[in-house]
Amino acid sequence: MFIASILAVALAAIPSTLAQTDFTSAHNVTPITGTWASGSKQVVTGSGFANPANMTFTYPAVTGVSYAFTDDGWYESARYRFNSNGSSPNCITGVLNWHHGQYTFNDNGSLTLNPLSDGYQQVQDPCAAETNFIEQYNTTELYMGWQIFSDQADGPKLHLFQADGTPVAPLFQVYSTANMLPTELLRNVTVTLTDKTLAVMNAGSRSWTPAGVTSLMSGVFALALSSMFI
Ligand SMILES: *[C@@H]1O[C@H](CO)[C@@H](O)[C@H](O)[C@H]1NC(C)=O
Ligand SMILES: *[C@@H]1O[C@H](CO)[C@@H](O)[C@H](O)[C@H]1NC(C)=O
Ligand SMILES: *[C@@H]1O[C@H](CO)[C@@H](O)[C@H](O)[C@H]1NC(C)=O
Ligand SMILES: *[C@@H]1O[C@H](CO)[C@@H](O)[C@H](O)[C@H]1NC(C)=O
Ligand SMILES: *[C@@H]1O[C@H](CO)[C@@H](O)[C@H](O)[C@H]1NC(C)=O
Repeated sequence: MFIASILAVALAAIPSTLAQTDFTSAHNVTPITGTWASGSKQVVTGSGFANPANMTFTYPAVTGVSYAFTDDGWYESARYRFNSNGSSPNCITGVLNWHHGQYTFNDNGSLTLNPLSDGYQQVQDPCAAETNFIEQYNTTELYMGWQIFSDQADGPKLHLFQADGTPVAPLFQVYSTANMLPTELLRNVTVTLTDKTLAVMNAGSRSWTPAGVTSLMSGVFALALSSMFI
């Protein structure tokens, strides 16, 4: 009783800003450092998923998402998903998405992923004019919050919330360290402006556009416009 009230006084004395940025103890059961994967854990960051140098993917057997974080500020993300379309059930779009870069913890508890510009994604849509194409992915992603719980069966479980509050599928810790490709630019990013530009723009609504981030379409369009004057 006495100890509990001392603790309460001690906790109340911690300024709220400090409490918010204390990500390793009060906020979470473990640090965010490590490799995290959803569901059946078959989509995992690192060399088994993406080959950024030639913009190819090793297709996982099933869909899923994975994130890895180092303790010195680097992240990598690997994602594979299908979008179904209610009005045309046969038109299932597949998206494979990979990027890496540096992350920051913001004072309000949010998390920002700032990619290097070698990220890319492959969009497959059997019903579109361009059924399969690959494009650069260089979009800063904001997650409004994150929390790590301890799951009795599976150990640490990371919950990430996108900028609009939508949760990412729960992520289980597959390694306590970050399994990732080298933390440097892995491909020189060249802007190719051919008829692909049109396909990229048409694909805007189908490609990976996390909520609350600058539109990929507008970036590509701005790039296209500016290159017309070079
Ligand atoms: C892309 O790079 C990977 C890794 O080096 C290699 O295994 C694969 O064969 C390459 N694919 C193509 C199409 O060049
Ligand atoms: C769903 O399919 C219809 C008809 O093919 C298409 O017009 C629409 O853009 C699709 N919606 C999405 C989100 O892809
Ligand atoms: C939290 O901080 C980030 C980074 O400064 C900012 O982009 C975001 O809008 C903030 N979110 C809220 C709800 O204030
Ligand atoms: C990638 O995005 C960043 C931040 O918006 C920007 O500074 C950089 O020029 C972009 N790189 C490319 C190759 O588009
Ligand atoms: C990018 O180009 C520079 C200059 O040509 C070269 O030194 C570097 O190795 C290249 N990087 C990659 C990842 O290909």
